[in-house]
Amino acid sequence: MSKLEVLETVDVHAGTTADLEEAYVVHKLWLAHDVDAFLRRIGPGVRGIATNGIAGTKGVPLAALPKLEIVGVFGVGVDAVDLETARSKGVRVTNTPDVLTEGVAELGMALLLDVARCVTRNDRYVRQGRWPQEGDPPLSSSLIGRRLGILGFGRIGRRVAEMASAFGMQIAYCARSAKADVDYAFYDDPAKLAAESDCLMVSCLGGPTTAGLVGREVIEAVGPKGWLINISRGSVVDEDALVDALVGGRLGAAGLDVFAKEPHVPAALLELDNVVLQPHQGSASEETRAAMGRLMLDNMAAHFAGRPLLTPVA
Ligand code: 8YV
Repeated sequence: MSKLEVLETVDVHAGTTADLEEAYVVHKLWLAHDVDAFLRRIGPGVRGIATNGIAGTKGVPLAALPKLEIVGVFGVGVDAVDLETARSKGVRVTNTPDVLTEGVAELGMALLLDVARCVTRNDRYVRQGRWPQEGDPPLSSSLIGRRLGILGFGRIGRRVAEMASAFGMQIAYCARSAKADVDYAFYDDPAKLAAESDCLMVSCLGGPTTAGLVGREVIEAVGPKGWLINISRGSVVDEDALVDALVGGRLGAAGLDVFAKEPHVPAALLELDNVVLQPHQGSASEETRAAMGRLMLDNMAAHFAGRPLLTPVA
């Protein structure tokens, strides 16, 4: 039987691309010089899309893919997929939840620990030769006893809560509704959560429902001694307000894995010593990425074999 055709919109992950190529004819949009001409040529045969959480279906007119049946997202966030058009065309959409929960929560903790204990700041201090010249750097802060407010209490937020509890932090969260199975303090308003937190961890989903949820008021409620960690999407935080608050000293520190216009990071942040920056690394461990690839492929295989999808979104 001849192989089905799949469009890979971005270089998702080398191992996953290799596995895709075992099973399908893979058309790599990310290598095309003229996207329109490429889609005109291969679009009519494409039955599936393999993409990631950031690229989604952006820049891919689904009308150019009349036989499209499934979009497999290599990531949990589907905010970059045109779900409305997919649903209207009966195109299935899958993502890769669960397998990345541990990795993303881990990176949230890494940023939190770094911001608290000034790990990268002090690494720069040592490398710049300042230790022998200037003596010990300013003291850092411990996590124990500090109040962590988690915005978005899905799988990742919950895992962060467990990890941070092990560090002796007091946990509170803000979500659409209170969860009956935990006894952490619940807030229905991000600003109220922020006002009661030493650190706000943003771990909610992205997309239109959360765009700008962390605006000036929330950021300033975290305050000049508070920290903000974002492992969700850049769109959730008003980035201009964040930069202003950090530059103006109205927010203590930040640990950021995600940005509004990735891979571009506001220049002002690069100058600040109280900010830890990551190039969207939450799920970027070998183990997690391999598991994400397997799940994306298993979803596609299930679809084309007429079996139920493992992790359907639409
Ligand atoms: C990936 C993500 O970094 O899961 C998500 O929503 O943003 C990340 O896991 C992204 O899909 C790029 O591969």
